[in-house]
This record gives sequence, structure tokens and C-alpha cells, in this order.
Amino acid sequence: PKKVRTRHFQTAKESGIKITGLTSYDMLTASIFDEAGIDFLLVGDSAANNVLGYDTTLPVTIDDLIPLARAVAGAVKRAFVVADMPFGSYETGPDEALHTAFRFMKETGAHAVKLEGGVRSAEQIRRIVSAGIPVMAHIGFTPQSEHGLGGHVIQGRGDQVTQLLADAHAVEDAGAFAVVLEMVPADAARQVTQALRIPTISVGAGPHTDGQLLVWTDWAGFTAGRIPKFVKQYANLRQTLTDAVLAYRADVDSGAYPGAEHSYDD
Ligand code: KIV
Ligand code: NA
Repeated sequence: PKKVRTRHFQTAKESGIKITGLTSYDMLTASIFDEAGIDFLLVGDSAANNVLGYDTTLPVTIDDLIPLARAVAGAVKRAFVVADMPFGSYETGPDEALHTAFRFMKETGAHAVKLEGGVRSAEQIRRIVSAGIPVMAHIGFTPQSEHGLGGHVIQGRGDQVTQLLADAHAVEDAGAFAVVLEMVPADAARQVTQALRIPTISVGAGPHTDGQLLVWTDWAGFTAGRIPKFVKQYANLRQTLTDAVLAYRADVDSGAYPGAEHSYDD
């Protein structure tokens, strides 16, 4: 299959073809999603919540994410792989940001990096792009600043659309090839999508963007407990695995497993 490149994101927007993304943190899901035709895989710092067991994305480190990004990048044939830069790995300035981006590109085989922030991260994006590394931007609700934003709060409502548009233009001008809009009202996301040349990717930003992205564990019904309103669950993996465990326990208890077909002869 022909590899997805940044130019395909651009031509998708220009021709009205939607872009589909999922997160992935390991080689098994990466290979399944890739073979089934997902355009891009994000090795999100949401691995904090979905792999490492943290309550927020703040504690996750570059060293935590590198092996996961390597596993995903190594498993794909077609999909474009984006490595998320964690909290505390780019905010001090363009030098730190480029250093972090180099680590992901050299040590994982990912095709691009992602970082959070609009106007506040524009200089970092500009420097990374100038080194030949594609950057996916991320504005709207940015989980790494959830304490500053006062929790999981929708961004870009009412007058805030002015700031959202300023952030969107800032990342486009800085050279980002695409921008994620997270938890933004559908109409605000439509305005951003019309205003920009680069594609917009929705995570809870409604239907008017150029593409969609979901956290795979939410999308597959693997996550325990509450999932955000914007997620559509396409499977119920948690129930499927629970049922499998119950059946396995019952078979071990009853002696139905292992049978002769699962045992070795002398
Ligand atoms: O880490 C992540 O999964 C993300 C997406 C939700 C945008 O950044
Ligand atoms: Na993230």
C-alpha cells in the first residue's frame, strides 16, 4: 500500500475526502488499524491514562512514550504515525522543542510529532518544521493544561472563538501540516476549518472538520467507566474480554480446559 504522507492530508482537504485517525500505543492495535485502512495513528500521551495508569497526562515522560511510538511505527505499512510530545518536553522554547522532536524522529521511526498550544507554541512549531519534521498542532481543549483551564472544559464557545481562530492561524503560519481541535463546539470548528488552508482534525469538535480522531480504548469500549459524550463506541472490548475470563475460569474449574487437543503426547 502507498504510504500516507503529509501531502495526502492536504489533498484530502482540497478534495473533500475525510481523514480518519485513532490513537495506538502498541504493535498489535497498530497493525490491525493500519491493515484496516486508518490514515494516521497518534501515539498519544493519553498512554498516561490508557496504558500507564495515571489520572492525567502530566506525569508521562519522553522515555515512557518512545518505546510505544517505536512499536507503533514499526508495525505500520501505510498509516502515518504521529508521536505526541509530552508535558514538560517543549514549553521552555524552540531549542527544547526541537531536541524532543529529534528524539522521537531518531529513536522511534514516527513520521511527525504533535504538541499542544496555539499562539503559545508557534515558535516551537516553526523551529521543528524548519528542521524538516512535520508537526501536527493541537488547540481547543489541551489536556496537558487541564489545571490551568479549570478541568475538562469545552473551548471556543461564544467570544472565545476569536482566540480559537487566532490559535489556528498561528499554528498554520508556523508551518503545522494539520491541527487537532479538541472539545470545541461544532460551529466554531466549522469556522476554523473554513478559515485554514491546512486540514482540521476533530476530537469532539463535530462533523465539519476535515478529519476525525478518537482515543482507541474509548472507541472500542475498552475503557472502564465514563467516556466523553463525543465518543461513539464501535465495540465492547471490555465486555468481550470479561466474558472470555469468566468462560476460562469456569473451564479451568470444571476441567473442560485443557482438553486432549491442548495437551502434548509423550
Ligand atoms: O493523547 C491523545 O490521545 C491526544 C488526542 C486525544 C488528541 O492528544
Ligand atoms: Na495528547
